[in-house]
Amino acid sequence: MVKIAVLPVAGLGTRFLPASKAIPKEMLPIIDKPLIQYAVEEAINIGVDEIIFITSPEKYSIKKHFDKNINFEDRLKNSGKIEMIKKLNPEIFSGIKFHYIDQKEQKGLGHAILHAEELVGENTFAVLLPDDLFFSAESCLDQLLNSHQETNSSVIAVNKVSKEDVHKYGVISPGVIKNKSIQIEDIVEKPSLDDAPSDIAVCGRYIFKPTIFKFLKTTKFDKSGEIQLTDAIKALLEEEEVYARMYEGEKYDCGSKKGFVHATIALALKDKSISKDIKKIIKEII
Ligand code: G1P
Repeated sequence: MVKIAVLPVAGLGTRFLPASKAIPKEMLPIIDKPLIQYAVEEAINIGVDEIIFITSPEKYSIKKHFDKNINFEDRLKNSGKIEMIKKLNPEIFSGIKFHYIDQKEQKGLGHAILHAEELVGENTFAVLLPDDLFFSAESCLDQLLNSHQETNSSVIAVNKVSKEDVHKYGVISPGVIKNKSIQIEDIVEKPSLDDAPSDIAVCGRYIFKPTIFKFLKTTKFDKSGEIQLTDAIKALLEEEEVYARMYEGEKYDCGSKKGFVHATIALALKDKSISKDIKKIIKEII
C-alpha cells in the first residue's frame, strides 16, 4: 500500500514569467483545473491519503486551493449553484491530510524530497512531479503500483524520448524485463547524447521504498550545486534492485510552454462541454 505522496513544488517557474510572478506555475490551469490538482487526484486515486508538498511561503495559494472553503460554499448554496460545490470542495479531498514543508533553499530535486523524510518515516511513498501531466485509462501511478507490487522494489516511470531530448532527462540503462517491469542497471542524470545509455527517460512519477533517504543524505552536490534524485537512485542500485515501468499513455511536459499548450489543446478536445467548438476553432485557425 502506498499512502503517502510527495510533490516538490518550490521551484520558481521562471519559464512561465510573467504568469508565474504572483501565481505559482503549478496553479496555472489546464482548462479549469490547476495543473497541480491533476497530480494530487492521481495520487489519491491509488489510495494515497497524505500529501506532502515541498513548497515555499510565496506559494500560499496552493494551500488555499486544497483547504476547504466554507464561505464560498455557503455563497454557492445561497445562490442555488449547488452543482458547483463539487468543483469547489471536491469530495475526493475529504479525509486527505495535506502537509506543507518550506524548502528554504533550492538545491535540487533530491534536496526537496529529503525534506519529507521525517513525515514519510518507514513507509513506501510516491513522488509526483506535477509538471508532468499524464493521461491514460490506467493512471501512471497505478501502472507503477502494479510493478511495485510485482517486484517489491522502488519503481520509476519511464518513456522513450527522441535522441535530441535525452539531455533533458534522467536516462536508464535497461536490464532484464519481468512482465512490464524493467530492471535498471544504471541511471544517469541529463547525459549528452554520446553518453546516454539508452533513449529510455525518467518521467515524473516514482514509488520509493524509504531506503532512498539513506542515499539522498549521502549524495553529493553536483556541478550546479544540486542534489540529484537520479544520483541517489544510482547509489541505491548498488544495494537494491530498482525497476522502471514503461508508461503506457499520453504524457505532456507542462513545464514548457509547448507542452502546456499541447496539454491544454488535448484536454480541451476530450472535454465534452467544449470539444466540438474547439475542433471548429482549430480548423478555422488552420
Ligand atoms: C527531473 C529529474 C529527471 C527527470 C525529469 C522528469 O528533471 O531530475 O531525472 O527525467 O524530472 O520530468 P527536471 O525536469 O526537474 O529538470
